[in-house]
Amino acid sequence: MTVKLYSSLLVVFLTNTVWTRNIRPMSDEINPYEQFFYSSECPQECFCPPSFPNALYCDSKELKEIPPIPARIWYLYLQNNLIETVTEKSLMNATQLKWINLNNNKITNKGIEKGVFSNLKSLLYLFLEDNELEEVPAPLPASLEQLRLARNKISAIPGGAFSSLENLTMLDLHRNELLDSSLQSDTFQGLSSLIQLNIAQNSLTKMPPILPANVMQLFLDNNSIEAIPENYFDAMVKLFFLRLNNNKLTDKGLPSKVFNISSLLDLQLSHNELTKIPAISVHLEYLHLDNNKINTINGTQVCPIPIPGDRVYESSLPRLRYLRLDGNEIKPPIPFDLMLCFRLLQAVVI
Ligand SMILES: *[C@@H]1O[C@H](CO)[C@@H](O)[C@H](O)[C@H]1NC(C)=O
Ligand SMILES: *[C@@H]1O[C@H](CO)[C@@H](O)[C@H](O)[C@H]1NC(C)=O
Ligand SMILES: *[C@@H]1O[C@H](CO)[C@@H](O)[C@H](O)[C@H]1NC(C)=O
Ligand SMILES: *[C@@H]1O[C@H](CO)[C@@H](O)[C@H](O)[C@H]1NC(C)=O
Ligand SMILES: *[C@@H]1O[C@H](CO)[C@@H](O)[C@H](O)[C@H]1NC(C)=O
Repeated sequence: MTVKLYSSLLVVFLTNTVWTRNIRPMSDEINPYEQFFYSSECPQECFCPPSFPNALYCDSKELKEIPPIPARIWYLYLQNNLIETVTEKSLMNATQLKWINLNNNKITNKGIEKGVFSNLKSLLYLFLEDNELEEVPAPLPASLEQLRLARNKISAIPGGAFSSLENLTMLDLHRNELLDSSLQSDTFQGLSSLIQLNIAQNSLTKMPPILPANVMQLFLDNNSIEAIPENYFDAMVKLFFLRLNNNKLTDKGLPSKVFNISSLLDLQLSHNELTKIPAISVHLEYLHLDNNKINTINGTQVCPIPIPGDRVYESSLPRLRYLRLDGNEIKPPIPFDLMLCFRLLQAVVI
């Protein structure tokens, strides 16, 4: 009986290679032949779902090493283990890998064999959050679309680490130990597809020297940024979401027109040291200014257009819908000219 099983499996293995490479639809019926085939190629520490042959689940198993990964695997789940090293040997057959989740392990830069990631020419997502990295683990494959490195101890970015990542859309470096000196003017050069950049909770006192022009979402909360250079956002014509909460921004540190960014819809400046409402564009919809030191509001000055009269088209009104001003030194009522200006306001928190 066993012998028969073996021979029919061998036929499947030799003749039907496409079958092993495609993600097949989920099916409740598990064919015993398939189950045997996959388990024979499944690292014993891991789970290989028969209905999803391109995925390998080795998460939360107290693993100290990455087991040898079979060639058919696209999606590799290794999070929540005790892995310290990423070796070429374990990944050498897995040339089709698209996703690797190594979040919450004990990986150090020393533990990563040189070139082990850049060899993976199809890799799209690399997750290494909650590890012990002190540097961005370069070289990385040019195919990458998401790189998540939050909650490590990263204080250095090797020169050119990102320069070939033309398809990277998401770079998450939040809660690390980046200093102003960790970022050079060419650090983010080449990231022409980058949409989201998260550098929150680091130790910056200045804005990064230059950011990629196509970024739409920029998170810099919980640093110690004091000022923004003149015309800083001029080249970032797609920026629509900007978070700078919990910094040390003062009126003096803000050039008068720095937030007059016509693409911007959501601006968050909570927990800074501002005493005035900065100038905004007519397009801004959400403005967070709570927990600053604002004590007066002059609606005429804040209004991005001359205070509109009675007869005005709705389309020409400033778009502001939500304004947070609590935790300042302002006492109600809300100034009348402010309400005359922002007639589309749906909520003001004061
Ligand atoms: C890689 O594949 C070859 C051929 O199938 C096999 O002999 C070898 O053990 C595999 N190595 C690893 C690390 O999986
Ligand atoms: C980037 O993505 C495009 C479109 O999917 C693809 O043709 C190109 O090969 C990718 N670049 C790299 C370096 O993988
Ligand atoms: C920033 O720090 C504050 C106070 O320490 C904390 O409540 C908040 O969650 C942090 N936010 C981010 C995005 O780091
Ligand atoms: C803001 O920029 C627009 C053009 O983008 C300009 O028309 C407007 O005058 C500027 N507002 C201020 C207060 O500088
Ligand atoms: C508000 O600002 C305008 C223009 O700068 C000024 O003319 C006006 O007197 C100010 N209003 C108050 C109440 O200070």
